[in-house]
Amino acid sequence: MKYTVVIPAAGQGKRMKAGHNKQFLMLEDRPLIVHTVSVFEQDTWCERIIVVANEDETGPMNTLFEQWNFRKVDRIVTGGEERQDSVFEGLKKADGLDDAIVLVHDGARPFVTEDHIHELVLKASEQGAAVIGLRMKDTVKKVADGVVTETIERSSVWSVQTPQAFRFSVVYDAYRKAEEDHFRGTDDTSLVERMNVSVHIVEGGYDNIKLTTPEDMVVAKAILKKRRGKRQ
Ligand code: CTP
Ligand code: MG
Repeated sequence: MKYTVVIPAAGQGKRMKAGHNKQFLMLEDRPLIVHTVSVFEQDTWCERIIVVANEDETGPMNTLFEQWNFRKVDRIVTGGEERQDSVFEGLKKADGLDDAIVLVHDGARPFVTEDHIHELVLKASEQGAAVIGLRMKDTVKKVADGVVTETIERSSVWSVQTPQAFRFSVVYDAYRKAEEDHFRGTDDTSLVERMNVSVHIVEGGYDNIKLTTPEDMVVAKAILKKRRGKRQ
């Protein structure tokens, strides 16, 4: 099963406090964005990678991708103000066939596995839209003015990550409609949900963290070490 992936990497990485975009932070021998792109470069199902970058970072990213001999990075597209704008720019360049599968995956999530990607792609091709999610480990409560108003039944709450996968026409129409309505969503599926399309959950792994704050770098190093140990 073939797919295209759009990788938004055009943020500022403010919460990481590195003084520059976190995509360039080194994790062992390579920058964060190289780890993430490598997953898709190596996945035989992935046909095409579209990376969304800040205008002044397209050059440095291109150099990196050449250094690492990536063959599938088809385009580096300039991003926008918010993640949603960046993803939309990437999707415009994906210009896929209506029923082609397109994935959106954060540049800041280097640990997604091929098994989860494949499960997600199969689900999206059957159902139109699918997202990687995790069951909550903690009990979740609703709170108003600092006081608990409700305990939400744990089995009904999931946290969702990326990748999120869609039939191209489903996600592209949702992004166009969101722009028309000036709707701002927190993730890609929230745009699709408002089009009354059912989004299916594929259970992911706890390793698939987004590197957001400096503490996450410690966890990232531990995950890499664990994986390296398994390969030896
Ligand atoms: N992103 C993007 N374009 C934006 C904002 C974010 O492509 N205008 C990308 C980021 O590069 C990242 C992903 O979306 O890969 C998830 O966003 P987040 O983790 O919030 O990264 P940043 O926005 O870079 O970090 P921060 O919010 O701390 O500034
Ligand atoms: Mg952000």
